[in-house]
Amino acid sequence: MKQSIGNKKIVVIGLGYVGLPLALLSSKKGFHTTGVDLNKQKIKLIQEKTSPFNDEEIQKELTTTSLQVSNDFAAVASADIIILCVPTPVDNHKMPDYGPVQSACESIGPYLKKGQCVILESTVNPGVCEEIVIPTIELVSKLRVGEDISVAHCPERINPGDKKWNVSNIPRVIGGFDEKSLDLAVEFYHSIIDAEIKPMASLKEAEAVKIVENSFRNINIAFVNELAKSFARLNIDVVNVINGAATKPFAFMPHYPGCGIGGHCIPVDPYYLIEYAFKNNGFKHDFLALACKTNESMHRYTADLVRDELAKKGVSIENARVAVLGLAYKKDIDDCRESPSFGIIKYLQEMGAEVVSYDPHVLSKSSVRTLEEALTGTDAVVVATDHAEFSGLSVNDLESFEIKSVIDGRNCLKKEDFLASSISYKGVGR
Ligand SMILES: NC(=O)c1ccc[n+]([C@@H]2O[C@H](COP(=O)([O-])OP(=O)(O)OC[C@H]3O[C@@H](n4cnc5c(N)ncnc54)[C@H](O)[C@@H]3O)[C@@H](O)[C@H]2O)c1
Repeated sequence: MKQSIGNKKIVVIGLGYVGLPLALLSSKKGFHTTGVDLNKQKIKLIQEKTSPFNDEEIQKELTTTSLQVSNDFAAVASADIIILCVPTPVDNHKMPDYGPVQSACESIGPYLKKGQCVILESTVNPGVCEEIVIPTIELVSKLRVGEDISVAHCPERINPGDKKWNVSNIPRVIGGFDEKSLDLAVEFYHSIIDAEIKPMASLKEAEAVKIVENSFRNINIAFVNELAKSFARLNIDVVNVINGAATKPFAFMPHYPGCGIGGHCIPVDPYYLIEYAFKNNGFKHDFLALACKTNESMHRYTADLVRDELAKKGVSIENARVAVLGLAYKKDIDDCRESPSFGIIKYLQEMGAEVVSYDPHVLSKSSVRTLEEALTGTDAVVVATDHAEFSGLSVNDLESFEIKSVIDGRNCLKKEDFLASSISYKGVGR
């Protein structure tokens, strides 16, 4: 007999940008849902109905939710479905770190029971479910996947800060270990998500879908970043060119250059494929690796623009004070993971500049607390994040602080106004 939603129990492991919205949605849809996270501070905040990250929707949901949260994995024992939403970072050498996935599997293993379904939502390269998730949970639980329990992969596609696309309306792809695994996972996602759920032929196919999506974005951004560097020498505004090309109603999708890419996904995920393909099959993803390198080169390129623009004003970078505006990797959010701002700051400091940073969404010990503090006594400004507070900056605002040069790392300022002013201005490719 089919269980009703109210009787089904869901456990979400990892309550970050991916796991917390999912757990809240599952609870809202009527499933008895428990969220488990290793981070005690995070659990305490959620219990106090405070979002651990800056997100109005999550904050609103938390005030009314019946979601239970805990540091204890014991809730897994009575769950029907266990969903893993733990991080998949790279280390300092850009090597995939499977540690959190492995350790989450080890933690749920002792509580697993026959009939349960484990779903991995974290972004991974093809092969991780079969080579890490399944062997680990089989080893720890002494159960057999396929015979006793089910395993599926449903990569998350959430885009934090996006007002239109969220966990409840983004279509999903799902791969299963076998037909039963696939059916269980498809049934669950159909009951919480109001969008297409596409079954894939295998776990590996589902794993590959997500890596391809994010590699596609990485490559396209790398292409326009390369164009930005080239067109700057030709005195062609690359943004105007991209907008021109975007009038073609088919076969062109605009991507825009900038001072670098950030976040837990786009700069990270391609390395999972690059490393796995080489280590396991001896295949070299030269094109994808070059795209990653091209995007990473934008930090240095941006720092060089600061040095060159200040030189035009007769100021040497060694004697300059530079304000980096924005530490978050994208507009109006507080997530700093892999943010290009840190690379830009490092290069500017290596050049001898005194660097001050400011972000209205990020309270960092090494940053100042107000825009005024950041701009006072400063020679050059780098707009590294297009937060509303920065994209609204005018020539008058910056002239009042006697700023000499502006590097618009997000091409979000009014270029024409700056070109007509006393401030030297450079965007990325414009
Ligand atoms: N952030 C995004 O925009 C996004 C979008 C789509 C997919 N993803 C993918 O989803 C996954 C999670 O990303 P995120 O941004 O939510 O990460 P996050 O760092 O915001 O959250 C992960 C949470 O997992 C917890 N955790 C780590 N190890 C654990 C363990 N062993 N057991 C229990 N909890 C553990 C951490 O404390 C943290 O709270 C990653 O694979 C990421 O690539 C992220």
